[in-house]
Amino acid sequence: MQRTLIWDVPTRLFHWTLALCFAGAWLTSESDEWLSVHVFLGYLMLGLVAFRVVWGLLGTHYARFSSFWFGPKTALTYLRQVLKGKAERHVGHNPTGSLAIYLLLILTLLVGITGFLTLGGEERQGAAAGWMSFAQSQTFKELHEFSANLMLLLVLGHLAGVVVESVLHRENLARSMFTGTKLANTGVPAARPRRGVAVLMLVLVAMYGFWWFFYALHTPLERQLGRPESRLETPNVAFVGPKLADNAQWRDECGSCHLAFHPSLLPSRSWKRIMAQQQQHFGAGLGLDAPTSAALLAFLSENSADRHQTEPASKIDRSIKMEAVPLRITETPYWVKKHRAILATDWQLPQVKSKANCAGCHLDAEAGTFEDAAMHMPARNAKP
Ligand code: HEC
Ligand code: HEC
Repeated sequence: MQRTLIWDVPTRLFHWTLALCFAGAWLTSESDEWLSVHVFLGYLMLGLVAFRVVWGLLGTHYARFSSFWFGPKTALTYLRQVLKGKAERHVGHNPTGSLAIYLLLILTLLVGITGFLTLGGEERQGAAAGWMSFAQSQTFKELHEFSANLMLLLVLGHLAGVVVESVLHRENLARSMFTGTKLANTGVPAARPRRGVAVLMLVLVAMYGFWWFFYALHTPLERQLGRPESRLETPNVAFVGPKLADNAQWRDECGSCHLAFHPSLLPSRSWKRIMAQQQQHFGAGLGLDAPTSAALLAFLSENSADRHQTEPASKIDRSIKMEAVPLRITETPYWVKKHRAILATDWQLPQVKSKANCAGCHLDAEAGTFEDAAMHMPARNAKP
């Protein structure tokens, strides 16, 4: 037996980068604030899978698919042998481990693609922006979460496999994925390090990171680092908003005193009550005749929050209790939650003045989309 190079440097680099990306993507999956990092890691994982497929054809001996091309049946037989504690040692990937690798590569692809579609549908960002409505994107979001959970299970299975195999054959498999070497019989083929390819990989990842954080996001690095102050003051990522229903009569009648609040911001039961009480409309009398009232109510109901056309519509609707009929958007639980962090002095800025002046901070308030990306806090020192 002698120390033999089994895992070439690019394979090891691939392995640990993918593992780090996976962990990072989990940690950043819950909050909008980390979305850009989450998406960055997602694209990087897709790139890594593409690399691994190429390396499975062109890499050194143990990295090639041909060296670990076992069928599922062999994988299960091997698993049974492992459980009985008398499995044969493989210096390269064993049959069960190989199956896990193929499944992980396929799942990474699935998680990446569904993530890309979710980003386009839910946040209106990325190349898939505008391909589908918020409601349609929810199917992909569910698939994204389901496949990510499946991937986590598989990763846990892979870790268990590493521990069991290490004990069974009295060798530290995790360490050999760092050093690349294992004790092997003389005569067993050895891999070549291929350091040049690994350096090229690192350069590409660094270039991608540089491009992403300095150009793709159009935002200063400060914002990415999450200083809340600057987050509120700088415009966000470029976006493509959906085209929501519009109506000239509604703009005319409901947009003369304040912004014509888009119907998707309240459920239809609220619009019904607002129109029924139009003579005492927040202290003003609207004085609309019956046909006009009916036409406005029809437009408002047809495009209300219950339709879940956009992310805010869906979230506003789901935040309201079934029996509640809010008359103000600014009193819905989702709105309150989203604006809790804004300072009292910011509501009094000359460009804002009232909570109902949505356009003071949301560049797309007229269109009714309220995308994160179109949020723009007015500067605190601006002249009126
Ligand atoms: C005569 C002026 C006037 C017209 C016309 C008018 N409103 Fe209003 N509306 C008000 C006032 C005043 C408020 C209270 C604003 C505030 O509190 O800052 C208000 C508030 C609202 C709010 C609550 C905003 C919040 O705080 O979330 C909604 C919803 C609303 N109006 C809907 C409508 C609709 C729908 C129409 C068209 C049928 C309409 N308004 C037409 C004067 C008007
Ligand atoms: C003083 C500025 C300001 C005004 C005025 C304002 N907003 Fe906002 N709004 C914000 C900020 C800041 C955020 C982002 C909060 C965050 O990222 O957690 C936000 C977030 C939102 C979101 C959530 C977007 C998302 O997808 O996460 C919605 C929806 C929204 N606002 C709707 C409204 C509506 C409707 C009005 C008017 C009735 C309004 N806002 C008035 C500052 C404002």
